Amino acid sequence: MHQKTWLVTGGCGFIGSHFIRDSLAADAGLNIINLDAQTYAACPLTLVDVDQSRYRLVSGCINDMAVVSSLLTEANPSAVIHFAAESHVDRSIETPDVFLQTNVNGTLNLLQQTHHYWQKLVGEDQEQFRFVHISTDEVYGSLGAAGAFSEDSPYRPNSPYAASKAAADHLVRAWHHTYGMPVVTTNCSNNYGTHQYPEKLIPLMILKAMAGESLPVYGDGLQVRDWLHVSDHVRALQKVLETGRPGRVYNVGGNNEQTNLAIVNAICACLDEYRPAGAPHNRLIKFVTDRPGHDRRYAVNAERIRAELGWQPQVDFQHGLQETVDWYIHNDEWIAAARKAYQGQRLGLVAA
Ligand SMILES: NC(=O)c1ccc[n+]([C@@H]2O[C@H](COP(=O)([O-])OP(=O)(O)OC[C@H]3O[C@@H](n4cnc5c(N)ncnc54)[C@H](O)[C@@H]3O)[C@@H](O)[C@H]2O)c1
Repeated sequence: MHQKTWLVTGGCGFIGSHFIRDSLAADAGLNIINLDAQTYAACPLTLVDVDQSRYRLVSGCINDMAVVSSLLTEANPSAVIHFAAESHVDRSIETPDVFLQTNVNGTLNLLQQTHHYWQKLVGEDQEQFRFVHISTDEVYGSLGAAGAFSEDSPYRPNSPYAASKAAADHLVRAWHHTYGMPVVTTNCSNNYGTHQYPEKLIPLMILKAMAGESLPVYGDGLQVRDWLHVSDHVRALQKVLETGRPGRVYNVGGNNEQTNLAIVNAICACLDEYRPAGAPHNRLIKFVTDRPGHDRRYAVNAERIRAELGWQPQVDFQHGLQETVDWYIHNDEWIAAARKAYQGQRLGLVAA
């Protein structure tokens, strides 16, 4: 059987862990090394179910030159898939420096060490190597009532998180244009699914509603996001690894625009069905002060990845949401472990 190794960064987090689980299951010849700093966002229980003989977790930081360089030399990967990031907008308002340190400097270090490694590869190994950088639609800023972000939309990041991801995207682009590195960047919309850290909208609302706590909806709740099931994002990344063109950017989205308020109501409706004793859960909705600088609307035009790589979302939103709510209802141990570092308090309000 053909054996290959990938180096994944940030694989203990939400999307990276789904990527690792699904990729190992799909290819028996694949080995994955996961470099993760195991911040608050990494739950130790997340990857206990994968085949440990083909998976190795290295606890370390992407900013660590020696760790990254020796891992590359030792593991000889055919791809680096870069998920590691500080990812929560509210936290970026409170501690932007942490975001720049990981998302910008960390990406820079990863690019530099990968470039040294890639230069020494020869023939097919060098030609087929890929560096996949996972980014967000938030780099494009906020839309009005109509239109969608394409890969040619101008960068207009509005939060410290988005600005740090935008800077990383520019570095990745430069490493292709200047050094010829075979990089591919994806800019994806909001993901949802199991194992998402309970600071993000969907798991936060599920857990609060289950506990009978008020559901804090920012501002008027009419901010629009495009939602994609995490398994569809993983399938997009696998397509990009297989056939994505070096230097290319691919937008990834679910063609599924929803207001935050509609999302919270949909979660409440699921819980009314699964936990009728607490119904109607939407009585818990409470409108609270908006997030500073809150972007109004994101929408993604994913025509390029559909036309060039044949990818399209497969998971119906209602079905995916029900499955997600059900998972949080039945995974107390994971939730307790994940919640040790964060108990649901409001983050990211700046003093008036
Ligand atoms: N969640 C979304 O909806 C979404 C949408 C589009 C793009 N993205 C991007 O996808 C990537 C993964 O997002 P996520 O939601 O899985 O994030 P996450 O916060 O759940 O996980 C991030 C992981 O990175 C690790 N990490 C953080 N700093 C590190 C460092 N310095 N060195 C090594 N590891 C470090 C953490 O320990 C954690 O395991 C991010 O780059 C994010 O910007 C996320």
